[in-house]
Amino acid sequence: MVRNESPIGIFDSGVGGLSVLRAIRAALPDEALLYFADSRYAPYGKRDNAFITARMLGIVQWLEAQHVKAIVVACNTATVHTVSILRKRFQMPIIGVEPGIKPAALRSRTRVAGVLATASTLKSVRFNTLLTQYGSDCRFICQAGHDLVDDIESGDTDSPVVMRHLLARLQPILYASADTLVLGCTHYPFLLKAVHVLTDQQLKVIDTGEAIARQLMLRLTDQHLLIKPDPPVTQVESIFLPTPLRFVTTGDALQLTRMTWQLLGVNVAAEHVEIASDSG
Ligand code: DGL
Repeated sequence: MVRNESPIGIFDSGVGGLSVLRAIRAALPDEALLYFADSRYAPYGKRDNAFITARMLGIVQWLEAQHVKAIVVACNTATVHTVSILRKRFQMPIIGVEPGIKPAALRSRTRVAGVLATASTLKSVRFNTLLTQYGSDCRFICQAGHDLVDDIESGDTDSPVVMRHLLARLQPILYASADTLVLGCTHYPFLLKAVHVLTDQQLKVIDTGEAIARQLMLRLTDQHLLIKPDPPVTQVESIFLPTPLRFVTTGDALQLTRMTWQLLGVNVAAEHVEIASDSG
């Protein structure tokens, strides 16, 4: 049974969705969160549509069995291909993420913006609809980077290798005189420092994490599903309260435990689960 105290399920192919979890935690600190990383099958950016949809259906069924009250698909690649299928099939609120083309078109002065996303996102119908809908008077230089997702999955966000991979993606964007950069993959906010170093802060960076958290808050408010916090506790009491965070992966649990510590400063032991795909 879903109650106000039930967790919010947050899903990604790997650790990228932790950037969205961070924004949700900042906006809704009392909510219990259940994070799911499908790391055994990451990166999704190289996978085809049918594969991603079958993984998503299997995982959302699992999350439903954990009684989550809402799901955030914290993965652009999964959202652009499957969010509409999920919404038809499941009753609970499902919030997706997609590249911030609209805010980039609103903010760019040079009318040139870069987009970093997966190859799968860039060739999707949904992404190309966003470009025609909101970006028609703006030039978008789109760059795909699986190597960057692999780097972040292995815990590397600032080594010379990552810098080289990132520079190769940023150069065409800078040469085209872009002043704005859309982070169209939830892994990339973990490269923000590296982007600033390599571009000397020349690019306005658009990350949709906070907008997703706001949208989630609105949906939960609408459906009367926000948690009702207990009477306030003192700081000392709060130390003894259980952390309402759970991390689950189809990959290596120890690696996810390390990554939540490295990327978020959160120390919770992750669990391993096996989830079968559902090809419908
Ligand atoms: N973090 C994901 C996204 O936002 C997917 C990266 C991948 O698995 O290729 O698209």
